[in-house]
Amino acid sequence: MSKTKTVFVCGECGASSPKWQGQCPDCGAWNTLSEQTLETGSKSARRFDPLAPGAKLTRLAEIEARELERIPTGLGEFDRPLGGGLVAGGVTLIGGDPGIGKSTLLLQALAGMSHTRSTLYASGEESGEQIALRARRLDLAASEMPLATEIHLEKILDLLRGVRPQVAVIDSIQTLWTEQLSSAPGSVSQVRECAAQLTRLAKQQGTAIFLVGHVTKDGSLAGPRVLEHIVDTVLYFEGDAHSSFRLLRAFKNRFGAVNELGVFAMTEKGLKGVSNPSALFLSRHGQEVPGSAVMVTQEGTRPLLVEIQALVDTAHGAPRRLTVGLDAQRLAMLLAVLHRHAGIACFDQDVFLNAVGGVRIQEPAADLAAIMAIVSSLTSRPLPQKLVVFGEVGLAGEIRPAPRGQERLKEAAKLGFSRALIPAANLPRQATPGMETIGVTRIDEAVARLREIS
Ligand code: TYD
Ligand code: MG
Repeated sequence: MSKTKTVFVCGECGASSPKWQGQCPDCGAWNTLSEQTLETGSKSARRFDPLAPGAKLTRLAEIEARELERIPTGLGEFDRPLGGGLVAGGVTLIGGDPGIGKSTLLLQALAGMSHTRSTLYASGEESGEQIALRARRLDLAASEMPLATEIHLEKILDLLRGVRPQVAVIDSIQTLWTEQLSSAPGSVSQVRECAAQLTRLAKQQGTAIFLVGHVTKDGSLAGPRVLEHIVDTVLYFEGDAHSSFRLLRAFKNRFGAVNELGVFAMTEKGLKGVSNPSALFLSRHGQEVPGSAVMVTQEGTRPLLVEIQALVDTAHGAPRRLTVGLDAQRLAMLLAVLHRHAGIACFDQDVFLNAVGGVRIQEPAADLAAIMAIVSSLTSRPLPQKLVVFGEVGLAGEIRPAPRGQERLKEAAKLGFSRALIPAANLPRQATPGMETIGVTRIDEAVARLREIS
């Protein structure tokens, strides 16, 4: 029998030491050491040699590759970020703030699948009673769905080996503990070890496993990044606590495209897919207001119209730059570009920037809309109604094209927008019906054109 031993490994440089220390003795980084198991036995003692007998070389052409068979979850908006459904043996991590609806989503999906496939729901978060109550409240007809309330990893692995389900849910990875480690459940080493063992089992017996992961206050999954390497797919469930809309975003996907977005609404009957979400993130003003610009963002295959709001106000003391749903570093950069290349200074102003409806925008195509909203707030002049703006802004003050400009324009026209301020390189060869397009190449030009039309 092999013996297990633990060591403490630095997350920065990978150096190991036999006991925990606050500072890595090798690279000097602080608080980077975490516990890991080492198997000491004949197996791991063998020297690694890729050409030794046992390791076989193959050519790509010799490998028979079939299209992956997809297991639909029964919820279209869930399948979308998954890349069309689950894959046998695939491990999917679903991260999100507590209370966002991860358990609800997985219970709904698993209950639906339990009619035609073998499933298993393992929960360490809630009691069986709570889960049964929720299933009843949601009218999920899944009385036969196997359920285990267990946090002991070895017992869960035994169950999974016994039941051999096609789909299993582990809610949540932070509650699990393995007896191989002495650290507490939820610690980085426990989370990593449990995820690794579950992943190994998933591949061995072809079970598709969902791992639920809570997001810590700084926005990263506990066991930052370690889990993302272990699993096949990482989905983030996000949304504004004050709005009922929830976005399921693919962050990494070995079996599909990333940046695909599933959109749900949380109702009293659980999560409902929103199949046509493009106008969700517009707040409807009765009249034009300064500091508001509407952009078209392209998340995955679907364009979304999102309102970007800016508030620029005289600073008392050090000027503040705050963003909600957009990158704060990017805002600082945009303000510098605005100053150097368009002569508009905000160094004595507080600048607040918000993407309406709790949506998070990562793409740089939001730059131009952010700048236009800032200029509009600073000058107290509203942007014209029915105007959409998108485009990336570079450090040299140039306006760079956004991918899939044509689709963005079409979606805006569909929702009744009639003018677009966009990168010149995105100007369509054929006019979009009902849409006047204004192409700009530089930031000062964009500001000048905005003055003309507002
Ligand atoms: P839950 O799935 O428990 O969140 P998580 O597992 O991500 O922590 O969701 C809990 C929230 O969802 C709770 O605040 C209430 C809300 N909710 C509804 O609004 N309607 C519903 O039908 C259900 C089941 C939950
Ligand atoms: Mg939960």
